Amino acid sequence: MAPTIGVFDSGFGGLTVLRALVERFPHARFAFLGDTARLPYGSKSRRTIARYAAQSAQFLVNEQGAEFLVIACNTASALALDAIQDAVSVPVLGVIEPGAAAARAASRTGDVLVVATEATVHSRAYTAACQAHGLRVLEKACPLLVPLVEEGWTDHPVTAEVIEIYLNELRAEAESRGMNPDTLVLGCTHYPLLRPLFERVVRPGAKVIDSAESVAQAAVQLLNGSASPAATGNAPETEVRCFATDSVEKFERLGSRFLGRPVGHVELIDLGG
Ligand code: DGL
Repeated sequence: MAPTIGVFDSGFGGLTVLRALVERFPHARFAFLGDTARLPYGSKSRRTIARYAAQSAQFLVNEQGAEFLVIACNTASALALDAIQDAVSVPVLGVIEPGAAAARAASRTGDVLVVATEATVHSRAYTAACQAHGLRVLEKACPLLVPLVEEGWTDHPVTAEVIEIYLNELRAEAESRGMNPDTLVLGCTHYPLLRPLFERVVRPGAKVIDSAESVAQAAVQLLNGSASPAATGNAPETEVRCFATDSVEKFERLGSRFLGRPVGHVELIDLGG
C-alpha cells in the first residue's frame, strides 16, 4: 500500500522538496501544507516556530492521515524538530542532517559554507550537523532572499546582485579564518529556485548542495522498500493535495515554479493564531 507522506513548509518554497519526493515516490499520496499566513519563520523565535510547526505537523498527521512527515523547511528543521517529533507519533525527517551529509559527500577540502535564514543560522544547527561529519563550516544569514523569491524575482538582476554581495562577504570571512571552502549548502527551501544565480557566483568547480534533493534521497532510505525511485518524473497516479493558511491565489500562481508543474487547487485552512 502506497504511503501517505506529509510535507510541511512555512510557505511554498518547500514545494521544491515535494517535487524531489514526487519523483522518487510516484505512487505515494502527498499532503503538502504551507503555513503562508505565518511566514516568514526565519525571523521568529524558537518558541514561536516550534508552536507553529507542531500545529502544522498535527494537521498533516491527524487530519490528512500522513504516516511519514518531511519537514521541508530549514528553519523549522533547525529549531523545532524535537517539538514536531513530540507533537506527532509518526517518523519525522528534517532537512538539516541530509544537507550536512550531502556536504560531506561533496567537499574535498572539508570546508563548507551555508546560507540560510537568520533563525537557522542563529540556531547553529548546520554547524553542529556539519561538524559531526568532520567538516569546518561557516554560516551566513541572507534575509533578503526569501522576499525576493516570494516576489517571483528568481532570475532578476537585483537578486543576482544581492547574492553576489552576500557570497562575497561570506567568502571574505571564510578567507580571514583560513578556510578553503569548496561547497555551498543552500540551507533554505526557497533558495533552490535561485540555484542558477548561486552557481554563477561560486568559485569554478565548487559544489552547490540543494537540501531538496538530499532530503528526498534520505526519505527513500528511510521508507526503504515501500517505494522505488523513479527516473521518469511525475507519474500520473501521484496524488498531491496542497493546503495553505493564507495566500491561496499567490500559492497557486507561484507554486508551479517550485513544483515544476501546476499545483492545482490549493485548499485554505485555519490553524488558529
Ligand atoms: N522555509 C524557510 C526555510 O527553509 C524559509 C522561509 C521562512 O523564513 O519562513 O528556512
